[in-house]
Amino acid sequence: MTSRPFHGAVGQTLTLPILQVGDPVLRERAREVSPDELPALQGLIDDLIATMRAAGGAGLAANQVGDLRRVLVAEVPEGGNPRYPYKPPLPLTVMVNPVLEPVGDETVLINEGCLSVPNIRGDLPRFVTVRARYLDRDGAEREQEFRGLSAGTIQHEVDHLDGVLFLDRADPRSLTTWEEWERNGKAVFLERIEGLPK
Ligand code: NI
Repeated sequence: MTSRPFHGAVGQTLTLPILQVGDPVLRERAREVSPDELPALQGLIDDLIATMRAAGGAGLAANQVGDLRRVLVAEVPEGGNPRYPYKPPLPLTVMVNPVLEPVGDETVLINEGCLSVPNIRGDLPRFVTVRARYLDRDGAEREQEFRGLSAGTIQHEVDHLDGVLFLDRADPRSLTTWEEWERNGKAVFLERIEGLPK
């Protein structure tokens, strides 16, 4: 029998409530996990994936469901993401203890939203290319480069693990509701990211 200590009930994957800006857990730094804790993390990982998918997110960090272990998930399915239809596909990625390093110093102004920040979007600079070192859910050491909007997604999620929200990095004058962004920001943004590597 696989030992998979659970987050919810045995064998049951839960969609969890997502903490909202103002909750102090979003402002805490999640702690590194030791490899022997991985079996006990599997339930949380399953719940993070289910919660991300149910909410239509492109990523989710453990802080956002009230857990301060250093775990994130990210995914953009082939058919696209409902919240961010312009994001290129990103296979389901689970990162434990991720460490990011920029590759080059090129940045791009990305427009972001967040499941923990209702109805606000904003522009902020992200590195165009980052190298991530992390453990996958089975404890294997991985090293992977991400580019463009996928790099932005990963930077956003690792920020969560450090207690940082996109609001902290955004130009306050760029903040919009989702509806106003559709009306006033989207076309300019799509033009800006046209040449971004995928
Ligand atoms: Ni977020």
